[in-house]
Amino acid sequence: MEKLVSLCKRRGFIFQSSEIYGGTGSVWDYGPLGVELKKNLKERWWNAMVRARTDIEGLDAAILMHPRVWEASGHVSGFVDPLVDCRNCKKRFRADDPKIKGTPGAPDAQCPACGMKGTLSEARQFNLMFKTFMGPVEDSAAVVYLRPETAQGIYVNFLNVQQSTRQKVPFGIAQIGKAFRNEITPGNFIFRTREFEQMEMQFFVEPGEDMKWFEYWKAQRMEWHRGLGLAESRLQFHEHTRDELAHYARAAFDVQFDFGGTLGFQEIEGVHNRGDFDLTQHQTFSGKKLEYFDQPNNRRFTPFVVETSVGADRTTLAVLVNGYREEAVEGESEGRTVLGLHPSIAPTKAGVFPLVKKDGMPEMAHRIADELRSHLPVFYDDSGAIGRRYRRQDEVGTPFCITVDGESTSGGTVTVRDRDSLKQERVDAGQLRAYIGEKLRT
Ligand code: GAP
Repeated sequence: MEKLVSLCKRRGFIFQSSEIYGGTGSVWDYGPLGVELKKNLKERWWNAMVRARTDIEGLDAAILMHPRVWEASGHVSGFVDPLVDCRNCKKRFRADDPKIKGTPGAPDAQCPACGMKGTLSEARQFNLMFKTFMGPVEDSAAVVYLRPETAQGIYVNFLNVQQSTRQKVPFGIAQIGKAFRNEITPGNFIFRTREFEQMEMQFFVEPGEDMKWFEYWKAQRMEWHRGLGLAESRLQFHEHTRDELAHYARAAFDVQFDFGGTLGFQEIEGVHNRGDFDLTQHQTFSGKKLEYFDQPNNRRFTPFVVETSVGADRTTLAVLVNGYREEAVEGESEGRTVLGLHPSIAPTKAGVFPLVKKDGMPEMAHRIADELRSHLPVFYDDSGAIGRRYRRQDEVGTPFCITVDGESTSGGTVTVRDRDSLKQERVDAGQLRAYIGEKLRT
């Protein structure tokens, strides 16, 4: 992880937020390459979940919602972690932190930070939602929350979307957006942060059909992660036990990815059967009906919901961890660092290099880069030895490197080097767009 964090900073993927002020706890900024990588990931999700289907509609609901939404959803009363404070060192811990010896509040309980005994408070509930005020008056009537999940924006818009699109149950609503949680134990780079992005889809089904759709979405979502190039051996399902189930869930499976090291297998996505919990709660709290009218059978019902909820940042970390490798190169003394990203999400698709800075090669390489740039993100580089230029692109996951050499200016062909196999093919310069486009489609 240390090597990855360092590469991410050095090459402009991810920076600590407000770094020049000493940083903000567990908040991260995406740099020029990181923003492209995360955008590509989100686009892949949006294409698979919304654009490629006729039964899912998109939505972009606001982050700030009516405060009653969070009472209805159970977040005001239930989205809490038990916390303990140390009176001596003033540090805060989750009450179930395995590093705490003894029962917090008891005289023999020991603070895991300063080691003092008897200084830990009893556990008290701490709500993970960030609060702010709407309007100029900062009193309790003006409290609003930064949403801790995007899902609620979908539930409250269920009828707006269904009626405006004339979708019939079963159908889904998907959205990508920021969520905020005042996590007590954030960390592991972008794994658990206080501000993050979720890609969520709520699929509305007839009661009784929910487990069938739950199984369908479990399989679909695992397939999506495989399609991203995450190694089969690093993916698994984890079924929630009765104790693990969230207050809204009838059944839940996590898609877990093996991050290695001390993290090991961890959730990257949750697939939940939420029953009619959310729509019923919002009907009760708002007093407005959120029922579906089943016209052919002339009846109304409150649909059940199957939810798929994946973190964009956590999946970004998964593809980085999955792709990072250091390897020896045959015939060369220096090894190389490679980010083996799936070509479709790689921030730059091709590096374009003149072999040397003379004999018309830079001019031809510039022409190729300019022509490709309107279709694909490409990077022109003529500085340093060609081997170094290849290495620089390997390290940021660029799948193809195009080199203009002596043969190119006379014969019109260039070499295209594959990042993973290191094989080079000669390709007609006029065919480059089609050649790379074809490879990116797989
Ligand atoms: N609407 C359901 C929901 O929010 P969740 O399991 O709490 O379910 C879903 O979150 C996904 O959001 C997780 O699988 C994870 O990828 C991402 N996520 C949750 N909390 C996060 C955090 N603090 N930092 C980064 N990603 C987080």
